[in-house]
Amino acid sequence: MKRICLSLLTVLMLASCTAAGPKPTRSDDPQRAANAYKTYPIVESLLRVMTLEEKIGQLVLYTSDWDVTGPSIRSGYVDDIRSGKCGNIFNAYTAEYTRKLQEIAVNETRLGIPLLFGYDVIHGFRTIFPINLGISASWDPELIEESARVAAREAAAAGLHWTYSPMCDICVEPRWGRISEGAGEDAFLGSAVSRAMVYGYQGADLSDPLTIAACVKHFAAYGAPHAGRDYNTVDMSERWLREFYLPPYKSAFDAGAQTAMASFNEYDGTPATANAHLLTEILRDEWGFDGFVVSDYTGILEMINHGTAADLAEASVQALNAGNDMDMQSGGYSEFLKKAVEEGKVSKKTLDEAVRRILTVKARLGLFEDPFRYCSEEREAAETKTEANLLAARTLAEESCVLLKNHNNLLPLTKGSSVAVIGPLADSADDLLGSWRGAGLPDGVKSILDGIKEQAGQVFYTPGCDMSNPSQKGFDEAEYTARRASTVIMVLGESCDWSGEAASRTSIKIPEVQAELLKRIAATGQPIVLVLMNGRPLDLSEESELADAILEAWFPGTMGGEAVARLLFGEASPSGRLSVTFPRNLGQVPIYYYAKNTGRPYVHPGAKYESRYLDCENTPLYPFGYGLTYTTFSYGKPVLSADSFGPTSSITAKATVTNTGSREGTEVVQLYLRDMVGSVTRPLKMLRGFERITLKPGESREVEFTITPEELSFWRKDMTYGPEAGEFRLFIAGDSSAEDFVTFTYNE
Ligand code: BGC
Repeated sequence: MKRICLSLLTVLMLASCTAAGPKPTRSDDPQRAANAYKTYPIVESLLRVMTLEEKIGQLVLYTSDWDVTGPSIRSGYVDDIRSGKCGNIFNAYTAEYTRKLQEIAVNETRLGIPLLFGYDVIHGFRTIFPINLGISASWDPELIEESARVAAREAAAAGLHWTYSPMCDICVEPRWGRISEGAGEDAFLGSAVSRAMVYGYQGADLSDPLTIAACVKHFAAYGAPHAGRDYNTVDMSERWLREFYLPPYKSAFDAGAQTAMASFNEYDGTPATANAHLLTEILRDEWGFDGFVVSDYTGILEMINHGTAADLAEASVQALNAGNDMDMQSGGYSEFLKKAVEEGKVSKKTLDEAVRRILTVKARLGLFEDPFRYCSEEREAAETKTEANLLAARTLAEESCVLLKNHNNLLPLTKGSSVAVIGPLADSADDLLGSWRGAGLPDGVKSILDGIKEQAGQVFYTPGCDMSNPSQKGFDEAEYTARRASTVIMVLGESCDWSGEAASRTSIKIPEVQAELLKRIAATGQPIVLVLMNGRPLDLSEESELADAILEAWFPGTMGGEAVARLLFGEASPSGRLSVTFPRNLGQVPIYYYAKNTGRPYVHPGAKYESRYLDCENTPLYPFGYGLTYTTFSYGKPVLSADSFGPTSSITAKATVTNTGSREGTEVVQLYLRDMVGSVTRPLKMLRGFERITLKPGESREVEFTITPEELSFWRKDMTYGPEAGEFRLFIAGDSSAEDFVTFTYNE
């Protein structure tokens, strides 16, 4: 039986292989390369011989029992593979284990169709990079691409084909724990990040055993749950969705991402899981996406709770008909689709199309040529946590940290000096890795304290308190420790599991006991460097008064301890810039730099009937794009190549940036535009370009941006996309609070 089956697939392969089309090669546009061969004869041959049950099996994704990433674990996945009921597995890895499961699929099922192995490789697989919010603060797409490439190599060598990343959910809601998994608040920066990640994961050739397929999630608008509570209702206008939320997903698809994950939330009253407007009209019809869509974990089952399906059978029909090709973990397709197809509730064409999309991705991964090409113990040993991977992780950790305050240039500290290290996070290697740390382990990872010990002459350490236990019994020792050294480094913030999935908070302050500890140490008058670990923007209104210097380290990953210490002691200089606004308090939320002017902007200090608060300023504590370093920069007034342009032309804007300090430093030069009059209201600023530059002391560089009609485009009154004639303001600056501008006109 086994031999007959194998030969059937072999015969199909032989008959098909000549027509597979040219292999793509690395090009500037992996999208085109990855999609260069659209149809696979092997897929068509299989579709002709597959039974209804075999087809449905390809639409089913179950978790192994290795990892728990959702509420219910279905047992018996090995039997499901053997019986052909499950064509895809997630949460199983290592070359050895995936080979074992793949052997069952290939050798013990009638057609021997290989399994697809997926996993949440979110910010690294074994070598863990900073959490994604931190990664985006680097504003360094090249290095972000490299981090995804490293993650792909490590994951692919462990038998994985498919990562549930990039997470492209724009978020202005710091209560939501999953803000930590995304690239922050801005569509332009988010698009650069998602594109870079897809390039990194997928490379130019998906069948290369060092690359894996990306999954763009969570489609769509999952980052806007009401009140920041995970899985909660989302509602926004289509205009807002298209302008501020969709671009990072689109950018990932344009970069060639092979798969998409439907989000848990509803959009316009329909759960995204079965939302044909999102999954078919926008994703496929408008954007031309030709990969497959997978539900999120039990997303189809959850439609019963949403109240748009009476039972799992109905939910399954709705989901598949809306364009959701694969069922993650609900079991609905497996149980109910056969009958639904037989009764005509789902057409054979719809079913075949879903199967075709999934098999096509398997073909693009090269799995029909060699189902075991990703399971290699030798490669697994060779690729895992190599020196180069660790160095990339350290560099990105350094670039992701944001220096929020540096009073009297307290930082960098003198190498070899004496420091007191205080705080419950100082010696935690585990927290460094953040949430969704793949197969990364804290074993052997240096904590921030370990890193500091390598840089300082003398280190006195005490945790001072627990993460949130109110006991202050360690405060006396902390105060004593603080007085022993010339500088105090306090490492405070959130535990790594206070952000990520199902980790929303109603407070965005550091826990009270930690805040009290800081007050107690500040009362000693010792200079304090506050290092923060957290997965969301925090309310730092008090801490920013008490600490002399603040370094936002997020959860910086495997090499984070060393990276933070190198920054503190000047072996590296901070160059991260916030990708999300830090409010003064939770009452200002949502607060984001691309706000509209409103009909009553607050321009007259103290005016009553203008848009403002009675008890707080409108401005944030730290704006989007903000971050300091160990030197300073000045900006010359932007110079335009012309003061107007039209549909077939462009202009350039140049600004001279000068390092006015005494150390080399990196600046992220940012371009913002404002459209003064539109057919619909326009934001006060829109990021439209950025460039990282490193300048020696006294050095100047002219930074140039090109502005084309694309940079001016938006969803106009009639919901067409394009620019409108009129006046624009242009800002080139170091963060989004810039006030100086020049103007130009766009003529139609
Ligand atoms: C999360 C996804 C994740 C999936 C698989 C879900 O609970 O929302 O982001 O990819 O689980 O682990």
